Amino acid sequence: MCGIVGYTGPREAYPIVLKGLKRLEYRGYDSSGVALLNGGLKVYKKKGKVAEMEESVVGKDVHSHIAIGHTRWATHGEPNDRNAHPHLSQSGEIAMIHNGIIENYAQIKQDLVAKGYLFKSDTDTEVLLNFIEDIKRNNDCNLEEAVRIALRRIVGAYCILLIHKDDPETIIAARKGSPLVIGIGKGEHFLASDASPIIEYTKEVVYVNDYEIAIVRPDELILKNLGNDKQTPFITKLDMELAAIEKGGYDHFMLKEIFEQPQTIHDCLRGRLDADAGTITMSGIEKHAAQILAAQRILIIACGTSWHAGLVAEYIIEELCRIPVEVEYASEFRYRNPIINKGDVILAISQSGETADTLVAIETAKEKGAIILGVVNVVGSSIARISDAGAYTHAGPEIGVASTKAFTAQLVVLLMTALKLAAEKGSISRDRYLLLCKELAAVPEKAELLLKADAQIKALAEKYKDARDFLYLGRGYNFPVALEGALKLKEISYIHAEGYPAAEMKHGPIALVDEELPVVFVATKDSYHEKVVSNIQEIKARKGKVIAVITEGDTITPTLADDIIVIPQADEMIAPILNVIPLQLLAYHIGVAKGLDVDKPRNLAKSVTVE
Ligand code: G6P
Repeated sequence: MCGIVGYTGPREAYPIVLKGLKRLEYRGYDSSGVALLNGGLKVYKKKGKVAEMEESVVGKDVHSHIAIGHTRWATHGEPNDRNAHPHLSQSGEIAMIHNGIIENYAQIKQDLVAKGYLFKSDTDTEVLLNFIEDIKRNNDCNLEEAVRIALRRIVGAYCILLIHKDDPETIIAARKGSPLVIGIGKGEHFLASDASPIIEYTKEVVYVNDYEIAIVRPDELILKNLGNDKQTPFITKLDMELAAIEKGGYDHFMLKEIFEQPQTIHDCLRGRLDADAGTITMSGIEKHAAQILAAQRILIIACGTSWHAGLVAEYIIEELCRIPVEVEYASEFRYRNPIINKGDVILAISQSGETADTLVAIETAKEKGAIILGVVNVVGSSIARISDAGAYTHAGPEIGVASTKAFTAQLVVLLMTALKLAAEKGSISRDRYLLLCKELAAVPEKAELLLKADAQIKALAEKYKDARDFLYLGRGYNFPVALEGALKLKEISYIHAEGYPAAEMKHGPIALVDEELPVVFVATKDSYHEKVVSNIQEIKARKGKVIAVITEGDTITPTLADDIIVIPQADEMIAPILNVIPLQLLAYHIGVAKGLDVDKPRNLAKSVTVE
């Protein structure tokens, strides 16, 4: 959460920082702001999306060759102009932006207040900034030194950027727990929470590590640890194109990302699956296959949509590999003194690779001797780097806050992992293995076919957009799909939606059913199909409106449902990858029909780097 951008070099800094903030808006959009040096330190900030700040700056002289900018997801202090970043220190000499949470801010604030400091905002950021200023003054040291001393006494997470009114060239940056990438240009440097604001200027980047401070000038990048020892910056080449982070003719990133799925699934399979030869190449998994197969259990740790992918994986791994699997919410797992034995395998699933709860949960497990496998989308992200091995999902940058293409890519990677392990263990017959490989290879083409239902789903969205609640039901592999469908609708349309196991619905949610309630059944042909059909009857008997996602060729369900969405034939283990796509489209079109900002739903952020 929160996006940060910085620039120092010969170009005009404001337009670069502004564009960068728009790219990072997925990380939060409660407020935004910029600090620059133009006849003194100037700060422009505003509640709301970046466009509102941009509007408020029109006509102002923003000429500067150095600037830092921030887009906020509020933690301490409500979203308003006062709490927006950048903050200015008490003297007005230093400006700072911050992504993260300072946990021991209350005590520090008390001490500073006792010394006469006055605070203009409710943020922990202003506390850290004045703490730095106080240290600078008392120790008569430079800003870099003051930052270093302060950070040694800070508990919490941060990525901070600071500029000083008397230094028109230098940005001081530091991170712990929140990401920071520095782009290396010719006589210029770019700083950001991820590579998207940097990609159009340079492909050479340095991922700053935890507990490192960067002193960044146009011609110089110095990295030091908190002990003041110089570190060698490790330069990485970005493997990402600008087009990947632009809308490319679509109205919204979410729609673009839904429509990209045939390609992203193909990219995820490419170089790994050879369906004709019956081989799956995943070096990270191969290296640890023996340890994974010897494990007493596999623990899957994730949040949000990634947690739903974990649930599908639980069903599939247990079925194919006969290894017990537990799926945990990272935020619950990390705080309850979990039992982890040496040799336990942790599978961490994360699109961003930066989710704070997931990151800390796997750090805890790693300390206790577990092997960490990461299924991550963002290359070079914190979870990817801390994992012992794993597999990237290769879905490309996902900008829409509601996850779509990352989810289907996660399912593909998890399915390949399960197949590979099952083949290694001998717990799957060769015929079933080969069939599933072939079915996987056919997913991109089937997804393409499925997307042709877009206009039909848009019409359904019109029909149901005014519903107050929705219920999503599914069984077996389709139960997590029902959860994900409900989550998508909630996130994008603000309609209350619940996902439930179709049979369990009798123990509560059925009380909600009346002629007003749309019930989405994920009812494709699988081992549970007949049971699901009975559940549909139960809803119809109470006059609920049924929208059924069914397999092509099913003649029974259409006679019961009010509306149907037809999915190409697929094996029951493959079907979730396809079944979720129309549910993504349904949520998208309902959100758009209600006039909502589907790419940036209220209160949400894409990368949740606070607990
Ligand atoms: C946020 C996002 C979700 C995402 C979840 C987990 O809530 O809005 O789309 O599923 O975080 O994020 P991760 O990056 O770890 O998959």
